[in-house]
Amino acid sequence: MSRTLIIASQKGGVGKTTTALNLSYTLSRLGHRVLLVDSDPQGGIAIASNLRRKTSRGLVHLIRGEAAPEDVITPTRDGGLSVLGSGVEEPGDTALLEDSARDGRLEAVIREHASGYDYVFLDTPAGVGGIVEALMGVSDGVILMMRCRTLLLKTLPIFLKLIRHVRGTRNPRLRLEGALVTMWHNGDPVEKEILGELTASVPEALFFRTVIPYDPRFERASIRGIPVILLPGGTDAGKPYLELAMELKEREMLRNVEIEADDHAEGIF
Ligand SMILES: Nc1ncnc2c1ncn2[C@@H]1O[C@H](COP(=O)(O)OP(=O)(O)OP(=O)(O)O)[C@@H](O)[C@H]1O
Ligand SMILES: [Mg+2]
Repeated sequence: MSRTLIIASQKGGVGKTTTALNLSYTLSRLGHRVLLVDSDPQGGIAIASNLRRKTSRGLVHLIRGEAAPEDVITPTRDGGLSVLGSGVEEPGDTALLEDSARDGRLEAVIREHASGYDYVFLDTPAGVGGIVEALMGVSDGVILMMRCRTLLLKTLPIFLKLIRHVRGTRNPRLRLEGALVTMWHNGDPVEKEILGELTASVPEALFFRTVIPYDPRFERASIRGIPVILLPGGTDAGKPYLELAMELKEREMLRNVEIEADDHAEGIF
């Protein structure tokens, strides 16, 4: 069964793109077929060295009907992960992406190309704009990124409202898959206090147990456009994303078992 997960946050610079890339890559190395879609007009994913071939074309060209999927969806060298870039090159492309979010073309393109993968991850621009809303419309779950800064406390409620709005109006299957704390400085009392306050808005059970620590190697990997695990000596930096991938699969398995248990109970009674 294919699952589409949107990686989003109200705030910018909180590790959305890093998580999209590292989690996608990890799941692909665990044997899953994964598609990573960059919907950020500001450009997010720039996998440079690990692609079989590079193209600057992407989502906007699919939306315009100017490209075939095989021309713009690029497999990584090891094959398990495919990447669809935004394709934004001109200011007009950004406008097109935003228009397509309003008139349904963006959702249609994602739906059309999502089949055939175990996971589709959608990297998004920050905020609660039209692109994010439209992509929530085609997603099964939201991975909500949280960097424990004070502004997050103020902006989180509006983001949660958007999830509820999309669920109530256009996509009843949308769920909050989990909140992911990232760039965590262990032992920082302020971050700890903010995390405590966040649990007033998001139930503790919805937080991933996995926390992504602050680690400068992520920045180095971003510069090269590669998952951190591919940096020389990067395997331990990549471990939190391996933990996250396992936790994601654990949650899915437990949910499926619960559903099957419910069906079984109905069958008997
Ligand atoms: N765990 C981490 N530790 C240290 N630096 C990190 C970590 N995760 C990401 N970064 C760095 O922080 C910066 C912002 O990360 P990223 O681009 O993933 O955020 P984003 O939420 O996608 O930003 P935007 O909203 O602008 O798209 C990048 O330079 C990235 O390398
Ligand atoms: Mg980004």
